[in-house]
Amino acid sequence: MNQSTIPQKSKNQDSSPIKIEHQTESRIQSVDLDNPGFGNVFADHMLNITYKNNQWQQPLIEPFRELSLSPATATIHYGQTVFEGMKAFRGQNGEVKIFRLHDHLNRLNNSCSRMCIPQLDTELLSRALKKLITIDRKWVPEKYGNALYIRPIIFATDASLGVKPAKTYQLLVITSPVGAYYDEGFDPVNLTTTDEYIRATEGGSGYVKTACNYGPTLLPAQKAKEKGFTQILWLDAHEHKYIEEVGTMNIFFKIDGELHTPPLDGSILGGITRDSVIRLASQWDIPVHQRRITINEIFEADHNNKLEEIFGTGTAAVISPVGSIHHNGKTIVTDREQIGPFAQKLYETITGIQYSTLEDTNQWMSSID
Ligand SMILES: Cc1ncc(COP(=O)(O)O)c(C=O)c1O
Repeated sequence: MNQSTIPQKSKNQDSSPIKIEHQTESRIQSVDLDNPGFGNVFADHMLNITYKNNQWQQPLIEPFRELSLSPATATIHYGQTVFEGMKAFRGQNGEVKIFRLHDHLNRLNNSCSRMCIPQLDTELLSRALKKLITIDRKWVPEKYGNALYIRPIIFATDASLGVKPAKTYQLLVITSPVGAYYDEGFDPVNLTTTDEYIRATEGGSGYVKTACNYGPTLLPAQKAKEKGFTQILWLDAHEHKYIEEVGTMNIFFKIDGELHTPPLDGSILGGITRDSVIRLASQWDIPVHQRRITINEIFEADHNNKLEEIFGTGTAAVISPVGSIHHNGKTIVTDREQIGPFAQKLYETITGIQYSTLEDTNQWMSSID
């Protein structure tokens, strides 16, 4: 594939054109958009932007293809890479919109800062990304609950074994029609804590969407699965006492009419869905406490019949009711295989905004046209 080498005009990036190479034969006929699974099939095109000579180059939209990399590619060895995850939805009127696009792109830049990756022009990236979705518009599923998942990734491409920030990078955006993330669908998930492993700690990279936060969680997650749990509820690295988050979700507790969630103190990801929930709850006059929460006080609240609901939040599952939490041989079983009314209301509101059946009063949706 022809990779553009035209340098971007540094003074007037907004006017730099986006180069497009169209796929000659679409693969969409072989895909069931009503039942696409999660993240296994990919739309016809991808966005490709390289960084070299100290600047990001002209964006290229080209057919989805395999990559050819040197075995010495820095990312494969040392993990200098970041990614994002967001979704495009097809509203009832057929219009396609992306949920909180600019927040996701800003978070991508935050991740870049932590990982020594050069900052992106988010306005240019936003335009290129909308163009990509416009070209692959037919890949955005119509079925309520399904969406086109958008995965930007940036990785170091220097072919060099030195441990240092690279001089060259590649940004790719691939998209994938998706259905429900968990096998359980909207049924409650079952979580367990672990005192054997930790996910992140202050000063580390827990707040960043980077590969090194995910690889080490696979073994503990696999062990949890073998014991019948869906995911791990991570506790703090020092005392195994304070609740952090779930592998791909932030966590909320509704206790005595008020919402509680761990604070953004550097070891957990600042979820965009988490932020959406906090804003909606505040707009509904539900007090929200972002504070350190011990696992023991959740068991206590449950014991005192004050614990009303537990749910996770994330782009993939939106709202995921938690059916049970297992900790130190004890288990909290929340609402008995049912989604709680507050989680239900949040789910209906967020998805209503995403599928344009509810008014987008917070201006969360970006049209692609
Ligand atoms: C570790 C982690 N926590 C939380 C989340 C939820 O974040 P968001 O709501 O932005 O998808 C994700 C998913 O992106 C994640 O990977």
